[in-house]
Amino acid sequence: MKNAPFVRFLSITLTLSISLPAAYAHDPVYARKGIVVAQEPVAADVGVAVLKSGGNAVDAGVAVGFALAVTHPFAGNIGGGGFMLIRLADGRTTFIDFREKAPHQATHDMYLDPSGNVTHDSLIGWRAVGVPGTVRGLELALKKYGTKSWSELLAPAIHLASSGFPISYSQMRSFHNTADLLSQFPDSKRIFLKDGAFYDWNETLQQPELARTLERMARNGAKEFYEGETARILASQMEKNAGLITLEDLREYQAVERKPLEGDYKGYRIITSPPPSSGGVGILQMLAMLDGTSYEKSKAGSATAYHYLAEVMRRFYADRNEYLGDPDFVKDPITALLEPGYIKARRDSIDPVLATPSEQINPGLPAAVAEGSDTTHYSIADEQGNVVAVTYTLNAGYGSGVTVPGAGFLLNDEMDDFAAKPGAPNLFGLVQGEANSIAPGRRPLSSMVPTIVLKDGKPFLVLGAPGGSRIITAVMQVMLNVIDFGMNIQDAIDSPRVHHQWKPDRLDIERGISPDTIALLKKAGYNIEEAKPAVIARVEAILISDGWLQGGHDDRGSGKAAGY
Ligand code: DON
Repeated sequence: MKNAPFVRFLSITLTLSISLPAAYAHDPVYARKGIVVAQEPVAADVGVAVLKSGGNAVDAGVAVGFALAVTHPFAGNIGGGGFMLIRLADGRTTFIDFREKAPHQATHDMYLDPSGNVTHDSLIGWRAVGVPGTVRGLELALKKYGTKSWSELLAPAIHLASSGFPISYSQMRSFHNTADLLSQFPDSKRIFLKDGAFYDWNETLQQPELARTLERMARNGAKEFYEGETARILASQMEKNAGLITLEDLREYQAVERKPLEGDYKGYRIITSPPPSSGGVGILQMLAMLDGTSYEKSKAGSATAYHYLAEVMRRFYADRNEYLGDPDFVKDPITALLEPGYIKARRDSIDPVLATPSEQINPGLPAAVAEGSDTTHYSIADEQGNVVAVTYTLNAGYGSGVTVPGAGFLLNDEMDDFAAKPGAPNLFGLVQGEANSIAPGRRPLSSMVPTIVLKDGKPFLVLGAPGGSRIITAVMQVMLNVIDFGMNIQDAIDSPRVHHQWKPDRLDIERGISPDTIALLKKAGYNIEEAKPAVIARVEAILISDGWLQGGHDDRGSGKAAGY
């Protein structure tokens, strides 16, 4: 045949274009069997090693959780809490809630000074600490859904803590940036700041006290942390330093399983986080408000698309801050917040061109119905089809700043996620109400939102993020970039994001949005500011399509997607 070479060329090109994912501006990491996307590369590799050795995604999730507690002290933890969302290959789903709880001695006004002003005690030091949940959460996940032994999954973390690991550039910089906080507490200063001399790039960080704590946990199970020597060290240090957590608080702490929230968006099934996360209600409510606006016809990055995003964000945050709280204490009006008639009324209140001032938007439910910065995320998919999304945290970077003497781990400042004074803004500027006020045993409302999206009944997206109140809006934007704008997972993550949270009435934007677009948004009435910090959350995600696992790591910070 005369033009055989051309036909061959054509058929090769066609075969390639059919069987391989299309090229995009930024390629994700492709893998066939298993993938872990995390915010610290050594911990991501720990997860991949567990998958390669036959562990499932839950096993890897537990090992990565413990590894990050060593290699990513900024947010990885055993002294904090979080959420794990699981979807097993057989279709079962569950949400493991290991959020911290307010200790028994906590009171409604514990962070107010005599004049009624909010102090810094909810953020810094021993009194800021909620009863940690991570160790019980990881134990529950492993016992019910994992396959490997507890001690095997703790082993990599123990090794990293005792032998040490090289300090990366970003870790080195992070210690410098947080020196003011960490140097207030002798053990934090000694361990993380080398007693004020600072670790240099590539220097080895060893954490022998933490290694011993993890070893005791490997021998004795989670019980060690809540009832054993570790519990006794923690409780006695609390007493010595006017903290509130007692042995009884620790002994009573339980992680719980909850039913994930589910909803649909344009044929995709969204499986997401229920309260005490506010994020799942937010994702479902905002998507429902957007559905039917045809906002996507204006294309990604257009002023009209950002306008609609900002307006649904504003409306959701008004509701969030008023109604949502710990489901064991308040009646979260989830059905009412997602009810089609209510959604339609909220959608209809959006002006197609102009911003609605936040003062004109109130929490929207009828009164009768209503009665009633740091974190880390990792996503994992294994060869069998199980997927796991974990977001866990100490709240602010390095939490309360306190490292427990003799036990070597940092404690959270999750108490700041409560409304210390209903109506006054917290660390993330959230102005919240009584539904999220402080009470003993209560879990503070969270924005963390590990989420899984199914397409044709199979896992399609696995994602989540740190970033305080901006988590929910960032996760939603990445989902929309994939579903509505056809981006691959890396482009979806890399695209500039916006954030609005009702109060303050301000649209935060990342760099990379065109000046023309900004001018149009200003004309529509938005008060626009460059986001501070400059990044709007950091989304770590997996997209599964055509037999490929695509890992998207958010280059707004360190970490990696590692697969095989
Ligand atoms: O649970 C929450 O909503 C917050 N404690 C999350 C904190 C956070 O993401 C900080 N990271 N930037």
